[in-house]
Amino acid sequence: MKDLFDKIYRDKGPLGKWASQAEGYFVFPKLEGEISNRMKFQGKEVVTWSINDYLGLANHPEVRKVDAEAAAQYGSAYPMGARMMSGHTELHEKLQNELADFVSKEAAYLLNFGYQGMVSTIDALVAKDDIIVYDVDAHACIIDGVRLHMGKRFTYKHNDVESLEKNLERATKMAEHTGGGILVISEGVFGMRGEQGRLKEIVALKSKFNFRLFVDDAHGFGTLGKTGAGAGEEQGVQDGIDVYFATFAKSLASTGAFIAADKEIIDFLKYNLRSQMFAKSLQMQLVVGALKRLEMLKTMPELKNKLWENTNALQSGLKDRGFDIGTTQSCVTPVYLEGSIPEAMALVRDLRENHGVFCSIVVYPVIPKGMILLRLIPTATHTLEDVNETLDAFDAIRERLVNGTYKRMSAAVTAAMDK
Ligand SMILES: Cc1ncc(COP(=O)(O)O)c(C=O)c1O
Repeated sequence: MKDLFDKIYRDKGPLGKWASQAEGYFVFPKLEGEISNRMKFQGKEVVTWSINDYLGLANHPEVRKVDAEAAAQYGSAYPMGARMMSGHTELHEKLQNELADFVSKEAAYLLNFGYQGMVSTIDALVAKDDIIVYDVDAHACIIDGVRLHMGKRFTYKHNDVESLEKNLERATKMAEHTGGGILVISEGVFGMRGEQGRLKEIVALKSKFNFRLFVDDAHGFGTLGKTGAGAGEEQGVQDGIDVYFATFAKSLASTGAFIAADKEIIDFLKYNLRSQMFAKSLQMQLVVGALKRLEMLKTMPELKNKLWENTNALQSGLKDRGFDIGTTQSCVTPVYLEGSIPEAMALVRDLRENHGVFCSIVVYPVIPKGMILLRLIPTATHTLEDVNETLDAFDAIRERLVNGTYKRMSAAVTAAMDK
């Protein structure tokens, strides 16, 4: 009989197999210093484009003050226990009410982490006879939630309304047979490539099909819409979203998340979300911190304006210089280049070491073979100087990519490793 660990010794997985070349630099890098537009990486200052602190709240003095006071007052233990048992407080309720009001829903419920919360919400919303129809490029938390579902599920092509319609036809037939209902799941903004989910068209399909819509708006909340209430507000269809989700891990620069919906749905979820019923309540310092951040999001539109000024400068600068930034409709800024994984590694090293620019890199299997995706996240703390330095750096690396410098460098590294 095999030892359970045999497969682990043999195969480290699609990402783990790169660990010896990538760890500490391309993955698990240690960014140091206060969270802002410029941080330190391996002792050198870099312009940071890899942190989802969209509104620049992470290190805002008012936020830091409230966080520190809340930590001093409540410590990190309070309240103890799950919400249902002993972890419920007035301030948890207050935050829920304010969040619900902000995203124009009747009620909201807090989640300790967005990831588990999404998994658990999907699990609670569907029964065995229900059918899930979801975007094939959905975030891992959606995929994991769908994995728990005991009934049928269909994926539709990424952001393709025609494909969604076809799958809704199939799902409708299936649901007539099983006697269940249909849940459609999309993201408000797809975090890798930056496109908004086609919520307006999806909601319009409600006139043809009977389904409920669940939207993960992790990247839209705080960045899109007139008030910052997200992709639903931006597209004028917040009412058509039956269950709305956002995390505190991006615009609110904290930890925690929430779902918002009609009161009756939230009342059901709070008694059926296993990730909240069987886990400790969100810490009070995070609740107090989220109240402060939400107040700032509501009362300081200049933060979102600055975010978009930087986003527009970065995206139009890249386009003007001939870079392919795909079809982003949000602050998420992808730059697509052609090259192999070793070339991508040499390129990122050059960007960080010689140009002081730190962004995330995505390669196959997340995107097609032969492509390199550099992903930049602008924030309100960036300056136009950061943008211009970065644009110049991108010009320089593109030239070296095209003239084969990275190919030669990566070949030298590979040869040295083979020795
Ligand atoms: C689209 C999306 N959904 C959900 C999550 C998970 O949220 P959290 O970090 O609060 O667990 C993330 C990442 O933070 C995300 O990008």
